[in-house]
Amino acid sequence: MKNRSLVSIEDYSKEEILRILELSEYFENNQNQKLLENKVVAMLFYEPSTRTRLSFESAVNRLGGRVIGFSDAGSSSVSKGESLKDTIQTVSKYSDLIVMRHPLEGAARFASEVSDVPVINAGDGANQHPTQTLLDLYSILKTQGTLNDLNIFLVGDLKYGRTVHSLLIALSHFNPVFNFIAHPRLQIPNEYKIYLNELGIKYYEHTEFSSIISKADIIYMTRVQRERFTDPVEYEKIKDVYVLKNSMLDNTKPNMRILHPLPRVNEIDIDVDDNPKAYYFTQAKNGVYTRQAIIASILELN
Ligand code: CP
Repeated sequence: MKNRSLVSIEDYSKEEILRILELSEYFENNQNQKLLENKVVAMLFYEPSTRTRLSFESAVNRLGGRVIGFSDAGSSSVSKGESLKDTIQTVSKYSDLIVMRHPLEGAARFASEVSDVPVINAGDGANQHPTQTLLDLYSILKTQGTLNDLNIFLVGDLKYGRTVHSLLIALSHFNPVFNFIAHPRLQIPNEYKIYLNELGIKYYEHTEFSSIISKADIIYMTRVQRERFTDPVEYEKIKDVYVLKNSMLDNTKPNMRILHPLPRVNEIDIDVDDNPKAYYFTQAKNGVYTRQAIIASILELN
C-alpha cells in the first residue's frame, strides 16, 4: 500500500483490506500516535461533507500531522476557472498526501494520475467511496465477529449511492448473500449484478422488506441522493419510500445491526436511535480509526 493511491476499493486485495481492519483495531486502542510529525495532508473537498472530512482531519491530528485544504472549492482558484489538473499538480507540491471529494465520477483516478503524491478518493460522484467501505467493513466485523457468510440488506438509493457500490465489491470477498431493496428507479445498476453473477454471489431484489427483515444480519440504509437528480419532482416522489421504524425491528435477529453511512434525512425514524441495534453513530466514530489505518499504510508509518 506504500505510496499507492486509494481510488477504488478494487485497488486493495482481500489481504490488504484485512490488514487495514487489523490496523484500525490497533488505532482504536492507541489513538494518539505521533507518526505523522512533519507530514502535511491536503483535504480538497469539491462537495459538502461532515463525517469524511472531519474524521480524516481528526485522524491526521491524532497522528500528529498537519492539514491544509478547502471545504468549499468556491473559496479556491477553482472559482477562477483553474482546472483539476493544475490544482492537483500545485497542491501535490505542498503536501505528502491528498484526500479529495469531487462530484465527477473518475475525478479521483484522474487526480491520482497527475499528482506527485498519493491520492485518497473521499467520494467521486455516484462511483465509489472506498474509505467509507473500509469503515463499514470494520463496523460489520466488530458487530458480527466475522465478515463471512452474512445476509446483507442494502436499502434505499442503490443506483446513485456510491457507498453501496464500494461495499458490494468489498463484501464479495466474503461470500455474502445480498438483498437489494429499492424503488424501481433506484435499483442497483446492471454492471454490479453482472459482477456478482460472474462471482457466483447470490442476490435478490425486492421493493419491500418488512416481510423478510428477520433474515438480515446487517441492514445498510442509505439516503436518496437528491444532488444526483435532475428532476426535483421525481426526487420528491421517491425520497420517502423506505423509512425504517422501531416497530419493524421486533422480529429481527438479536445480533442484527443497522448501519447507515450518514447523513440521514428521513430513511431511519429517530425512534430507532435508542434501539441497541442502531449502530450508525458508532460506525461514524469507527471512521477515525479506519482513516488513521489507511493514512498510516499509505505513508508506511505503521
Ligand atoms: N458518509 C459520508 O460520506 O458522510 P459525509 O458526506 O458527511 O462525509
